[in-house]
Amino acid sequence: MLTPGGVPRHVAIIMDGNGRWAQQRHMPRYAGHRAGVGAVRRTVEACGRKGVQVLTLFAFSSENWRRPRKEVGTLMDLFLNALGSEAEKLHRNNVRLEVIGDRTAFADALQARITEVETLTAGNTGLHLVIAANYGGRWDITQAARRLGEKVAAGVLAPDAIDEKALQGELCLGRLPEPDLFIRTGGEERISNFLLWQLAYTELYFTEVLWPDFDEAELDAALAAYRCRQRRFGCTGEQVERLRNA
Ligand code: FPP
Repeated sequence: MLTPGGVPRHVAIIMDGNGRWAQQRHMPRYAGHRAGVGAVRRTVEACGRKGVQVLTLFAFSSENWRRPRKEVGTLMDLFLNALGSEAEKLHRNNVRLEVIGDRTAFADALQARITEVETLTAGNTGLHLVIAANYGGRWDITQAARRLGEKVAAGVLAPDAIDEKALQGELCLGRLPEPDLFIRTGGEERISNFLLWQLAYTELYFTEVLWPDFDEAELDAALAAYRCRQRRFGCTGEQVERLRNA
């Protein structure tokens, strides 16, 4: 789906390449993550200006706990600090912040700050910024299935009422439009257990640019590539053209 001006409604990004960005500069990996926060800020601002409605950023995957303890600690500190320092600015700019993923694994202070910022910005009507933290696409589908199972066990849902719509309704982002455009920086061409269900019809865009170098010009390049794609959703090209011209 497009907003007026051909801008995708929902953009989802895997922010990859922080470590290599730092390595290239003979700096420790945390310097790359810190520079990555700058790219997050630029991207949020640019998406807001362009009229993107939802921006989902993959900040920390369920698998990232396997990284060295020190790096995990650095990432957690960065989230905590960024949530603290950016909250007021996000709120002033009418941005609504939501965090998806299993937050129960986070320290109490981080959980509390997430809830604080979500509550502060809950009524905002501008850009909906979703941060995926301790998120995995398989985890998401599993938790949705578990919730449906609980409803069946409680007798409030019949097993044959379980269809795609019912499952989708229990997923993170279930009430938001599905991503139109997926961007992965850093040169790898994988989904890496990001929004597995939600990306079914999403246009995929991969770039060699390392995340800390991502800026408005790079976003524009991705948006330009997106505008050239023909989204068919299972129809033929002719059908899509006919619908577009109707
Ligand atoms: C992947 O690069 C990046 C991450 C695992 C962390 C992303 C976090 C940030 C951009 C900073 C904080 C974010 C927010 C929302 C405040 P990598 O370390 O895998 O890079 P590499 O592939 O070059 O090693």
